[in-house]
Amino acid sequence: MDLLIFLLLLTLFLVTTRFILNRRVTKNLPPGPTGFPIIGNLHQLGPKPHCALSSLAQTYGPIMSLRLGSVTVAVASSPAAAQEILQKNDQAFANRPIPESVAAQPNLGDTLAWAPADQRWRNRRRVCATQIFTAQRLDLLQHLRHRKVQELVHHLRKQASNGKAVAIGDLAFATMLNLVSNTVFSEDLVDPEFESAGEFKEVVWRIMEDAGRVNFSDYFPLLKPFDLQGVKRHVAVSYVRLHNIFDGLIRKRVAEREGPRVVKGDFLDVLLDQCEQGEASDFTVESIKPLILDLFIAGSDTSGSTTEWAMAELLRNPEVMQKAREEVIQVIGSSSVEITETDIPRLPYIQAIVKETLRLHPPVPLLLPYVAGHDVEVSGYTIHKGNQVLINAWSIGRNPQFWDEPLLFQPQRFLRSNIDFKGRDFEYLPFGGGRRICPGLPLAIRMITLMLAALLHSFQWELPQGVTPHTLDMTEQYGITLKKLSPLSAIPISL
Ligand code: HEM
Repeated sequence: MDLLIFLLLLTLFLVTTRFILNRRVTKNLPPGPTGFPIIGNLHQLGPKPHCALSSLAQTYGPIMSLRLGSVTVAVASSPAAAQEILQKNDQAFANRPIPESVAAQPNLGDTLAWAPADQRWRNRRRVCATQIFTAQRLDLLQHLRHRKVQELVHHLRKQASNGKAVAIGDLAFATMLNLVSNTVFSEDLVDPEFESAGEFKEVVWRIMEDAGRVNFSDYFPLLKPFDLQGVKRHVAVSYVRLHNIFDGLIRKRVAEREGPRVVKGDFLDVLLDQCEQGEASDFTVESIKPLILDLFIAGSDTSGSTTEWAMAELLRNPEVMQKAREEVIQVIGSSSVEITETDIPRLPYIQAIVKETLRLHPPVPLLLPYVAGHDVEVSGYTIHKGNQVLINAWSIGRNPQFWDEPLLFQPQRFLRSNIDFKGRDFEYLPFGGGRRICPGLPLAIRMITLMLAALLHSFQWELPQGVTPHTLDMTEQYGITLKKLSPLSAIPISL
């Protein structure tokens, strides 16, 4: 007990000292709300920080600063401010602060998403961009993804014959996990019949949940060693389990490659080819595990929840659903013909639906955080070395200054304009921008568009009894990804 009191007093002392020191480094900071001592503006974030920050930006402007515990955070909420951060000063904001839930994983420095933007990180990004996410590489593995989507359609046909409603988000998440796992390992990691959840899905899910929890250690760095809420200890178990699963798959492949050569050509083969280059390469069998983990964590939930939001918007907007179905039927033909990724370029309206969904429901609403490497001027204010920076992509995508009737779901707006998500149009940043833009973008867009087109091509969709397009609940739940609070349930009717 004495020890506990001592620790609490020590913590209070350290936090107060830090608070006083912090006050000295506030010269020319962007404007922002006055906070309480010690907690600063933490109480103002609420359960939906992206919404709270959007409202605060209306008072304090497109670049504002807040104090979250002992951490100073600048928030950009306009295309111009985002451009200054992502383009003009991208070098200064190339690194990320590391949340404690992320720091719990083994070999953190070998991740792509959280490693400092040094030469090793650049080499890894280059290999991903040139060897993994190129159109040619993705084309090579498209048959694996087609099979997964056909399995989903098959499963839904069975449900349709019983007239049962299905949880679209769960199915989309499991399918996306298998799409990623087939692209990386040429194997399913989730039961293709979706009956048992499968340990892999559970572990990935637990990492998402833990990473989405508010952790005081992130706002009071001096508390880090104590891990008072136990988040780091809890999530570490899931990380180790995933590493063990990957270990088994990598060992199996290494052994296969020693025998008569059967080239699978998947991401794992690309990474093992890199490992074989020895000293010339930044990759080893150990160091590819965090990278593979990144691809699963960053790729599955984001893409799954985008598919769920898209279907929710279509069920809420029957005329858009009708137009989309007409397009797939006209381009692909009857529902007995299998849809493939090569059909996507001929589906401009479905592509516009995906874009519109990502505008209204960006799965990573505040992008991933950045940290200032040195003092930087942004819009006439100073962001000091060590300050964190967030870009509120959600708020920018819904701002009437930059979008006509921003709260309406109108995919045709993207048919009339050249705005794209590749990080050059700063009013539309679902994948971020600058040097840390999402490298998985080409794969994500293929997976989401293919899955959505298949759902519309093979089925008509109805809401369960008692739910109408007007009463469908679209409330958001903030976490590591922005999800639907009440999971979407809909009835597939086979065509
Ligand atoms: C709808 C789907 C997706 C969305 C909306 C999305 C969004 C994002 C965003 C906003 C970032 C941060 C960018 C920044 O800091 O400016 C990011 C980073 C990242 N994403 Fe995605 N992502 C998606 C799918 C994927 C997929 C399928 C993969 C890979 C399989 C992936 C892998 C990554 C990685 C590795 C990073 C870290 C990059 C770095 O820090 O260098 N993402 N993503």
